[in-house]
Amino acid sequence: MVEKITTFKVKGIEIKLIKDRKIYMPSAATRLIAENLHEIDGLRVLDLGTGSGVLAILASKLGARNVVATDVSDRAIKIAKRNAEINGVEIDFRVGDLFNPVRGELFDLIICNPPMTPSPIQLRRFTWGGIVGRFFSVRVLVEPPSHLRRNGRLILPVISLVGIGRTYQALLGRGFIPKILDYQVHPFGKILRRLLNHLKSLPDSDYVYDHLGRVCWRLVLFEAIKT
Ligand SMILES: C[S@@+](CC[C@H](N)C(=O)[O-])C[C@H]1O[C@@H](n2cnc3c(N)ncnc32)[C@H](O)[C@@H]1O
Repeated sequence: MVEKITTFKVKGIEIKLIKDRKIYMPSAATRLIAENLHEIDGLRVLDLGTGSGVLAILASKLGARNVVATDVSDRAIKIAKRNAEINGVEIDFRVGDLFNPVRGELFDLIICNPPMTPSPIQLRRFTWGGIVGRFFSVRVLVEPPSHLRRNGRLILPVISLVGIGRTYQALLGRGFIPKILDYQVHPFGKILRRLLNHLKSLPDSDYVYDHLGRVCWRLVLFEAIKT
């Protein structure tokens, strides 16, 4: 079968990716993380929920010593492996739920772009964050401290619809020193507009209106340091 390829360009690096509608292709959150990856040289990195493998490939190209990338989807891992091959990098890909594939292992940096769209109706697995959007991130936040070396970092985006302040507090509660690396504002797309009533009902949801009167969500990128 002929592979259709798309190119993801960031930090002067070009990453070639196979197009596949059944896995998560890089989004605004992927790009925000990619643009803010820094001081990667020599690190042991975990990319949790790797999807196409794009962030794992980028970490490798930015000089990481060792990159482990996991995903619960067999299909995503199969494609991510092929993407690593196409881009000439070696990554240790593993299939499994959250931290199961890396039990007992330590990292200097954990990158995680979680599924976080809140919806009362099930969406595609790679975007759906449960009814309030926090299903995956709450589970993600339980374990990183035990998988990070001292002064290790967790990079985690959050959308304002699931609660920025609440995520900040959760990171503090897990013994991290969180800071915001970057943020963006995006108008609601078709799916979010349809979910507006549900989103308004969520306790931690917050959204803003832009100068054109469009309802917008904010995407915030946390970097949390393990003390
Ligand atoms: C929002 S996508 C991010 C993909 C990629 N890291 C990126 O930024 O483009 C989330 C990924 O997490 C994976 N995922 C969902 N539930 C998971 C779980 N319980 N354990 C591991 N990965 C999971 C999905 O299959 C999907 O590939």
